[in-house]
Amino acid sequence: MSNYHIKHLEEYYQVYRKSVREPENFWEEIAEEHFMWQKKWDKVLSWDFSKPEVKWFEGAQLNITENCIDRHLPTRGDKTAILFEPNDPKDPAEHITYNQLHDRVNQFANVLKNRGIAKGDRVCIYLPMIPELAIATLACARIGAIHSVVFAGFSATALSTRINDSDCKIVITSDGSYRGSKTIDLKGIVDEALESCPGVKDVLVAKRINTDIHMEAGRDQWLQPLLDAASTVCKAEVMNAEDPLFILYTSGSTGKPKGMVHTTAGYMVYTAYTFKNIFQYKENDVYWCTADIGWITGHSYILYGPLTNGATTVLFEGVPSYPDFGRFWEIVEKHKVNQFYTAPTAIRALAKQGVEIVEKYDLSSLKVLGSVGEPINEEAWHWYNDNVGKKKSPIVDTWWQTETGGIMISPIPFVTPTKPTYATLPFIGIQPALMDEEGQELKGNQVDGRLCIKFPWPSMARTIWGNHQRYKDTYFSAYENKYFTGDGALRDEVGYYRITGRVDDVIIVSGHNLGTAPIEDAVNEHPAVAESAIVGFPHDIKGNALYGYVILKDFGETRDHNNLRKEINQMITESIGPIAKLDKIQFTVGLPKTRSGKIMRRILRKIASNDTSNLGDTSTLLNPEVVQEIMDNVL
Ligand code: PRX
Repeated sequence: MSNYHIKHLEEYYQVYRKSVREPENFWEEIAEEHFMWQKKWDKVLSWDFSKPEVKWFEGAQLNITENCIDRHLPTRGDKTAILFEPNDPKDPAEHITYNQLHDRVNQFANVLKNRGIAKGDRVCIYLPMIPELAIATLACARIGAIHSVVFAGFSATALSTRINDSDCKIVITSDGSYRGSKTIDLKGIVDEALESCPGVKDVLVAKRINTDIHMEAGRDQWLQPLLDAASTVCKAEVMNAEDPLFILYTSGSTGKPKGMVHTTAGYMVYTAYTFKNIFQYKENDVYWCTADIGWITGHSYILYGPLTNGATTVLFEGVPSYPDFGRFWEIVEKHKVNQFYTAPTAIRALAKQGVEIVEKYDLSSLKVLGSVGEPINEEAWHWYNDNVGKKKSPIVDTWWQTETGGIMISPIPFVTPTKPTYATLPFIGIQPALMDEEGQELKGNQVDGRLCIKFPWPSMARTIWGNHQRYKDTYFSAYENKYFTGDGALRDEVGYYRITGRVDDVIIVSGHNLGTAPIEDAVNEHPAVAESAIVGFPHDIKGNALYGYVILKDFGETRDHNNLRKEINQMITESIGPIAKLDKIQFTVGLPKTRSGKIMRRILRKIASNDTSNLGDTSTLLNPEVVQEIMDNVL
């Protein structure tokens, strides 16, 4: 019997038990029945979390694009694979069929090959949400080049750090991008980034906004003429199961961004299987995930998961507020979207606009609603459930991470009864554990601890590019033989999980993972700043916002504070991007520190959150008097 598509709760428990008791047999059956392999594996799984080393489907050979495209051509060649909805609703949507996707990916793959890109080379993709982004990504996979997609909202500095960290040979970008009523000079950002990337000799530029831009002779090429001249035939490179498919950067609490490395076979199997079940995708459904391909959600659930299932996946270039706050609902009505997957921050922003805007549109096509990226608060959950889902479309609150590659804890719609703010049950094959501060596993229900995973799953990241030690230290050293997620969670009386938030110095702002250290580094670069500490505080739309405590050098104190605030945020925008800007900046004479000199962020977090009733013992601080000073001047 195939366990590929789970349809009721009893079946979930049955399949779950099998996936835990006999993981190798379980995943072997899934892999065997639903994918195209050039050669089958010799061994399903080998693992050792102490190294850490994990290998799935070792010995197998495949190409993920044959599974995403070629395999569907006999039966779904004329079906829409990618449904592109442009920024401007007046521009026509573009339906790219599986046949067309095949030709366009192959042409792009040939362009890359003609420029000397080969298996294992790293390719940086810095593009807006236009078809070229999906096609370039798949073209890399076609020839075995490792794609590193960088979200096109990152700054030149952030881009160059990522290009250099993985030695990308080539950058694929566009002349610019649309963002609502604005245009963004993407190529200008690339030009600036490349001033510090000596390894990049080649830049391919897609035309999107048709502006006059600088083209560096000998380095920059317009993409379209190269594509037009390229063949639509490109043999898929033979990839080993554990060959890297992509690198995707995520922030850490300290240091530079971590290039998470995902490999081929396990990632494919797990993203396909989760997509099928968690969205209950049926042939002819139209599925829409509003994320950007620059994040893991876009990689796994705009591209690979949907396409391996032969789905129609919507690619939306624009923003939820343009031309007005009805845009998401207009798109749902226009394309009769069946599954809609978005982030709590978007739900909260749209809820604020009132239900009248939602009610103008026919949302009756919707069957499943999804949420991802941060905890969804009760109010937002109900608003989504009542006004978008009309209480008939289950909400799947999906918990997972860049590192996990695919969804880890989530209801299966129409199978798992949902509960507001709970991600509910572990997905098939996932073995969570809650740990106490002493490193003991908390058994049974009604417990609260740190969330770990105690057995490998196929789509887990295998390493951090160029720094395996950091991978081990970050994820496998806190608890023996377990992957540590960095999140806290509780398990209720029936075994449902609720994610309570990060327990480290990562702050989730509007669903984006931001490490405090890189932001502090950017702030400290301002000549008037002596020291800073960044913490998160609750925000009704963004979930969390950033609060900066800044100590000024002497000469800074005489300057206009509002100007300084603007300049500090400008430093952050240049170093990381506008998403990391501080909502509040409090200038202070000191920061609470332990005797060993560590900043007590817990106290700063409480003050920023207006939660000073229980600050704990501050008498052991090196400088307890500063706490009152900070409280008196809180913003
Ligand atoms: O804190 C958790 C939060 O987002 C973190 C992972 O961020 P990132 O790697 O950017 O991936 C986001 C998209 C998969 C997690 O450690 N998070 C993600 N989903 C949820 C969540 N927190 C609560 N509930 C969720 N459904």
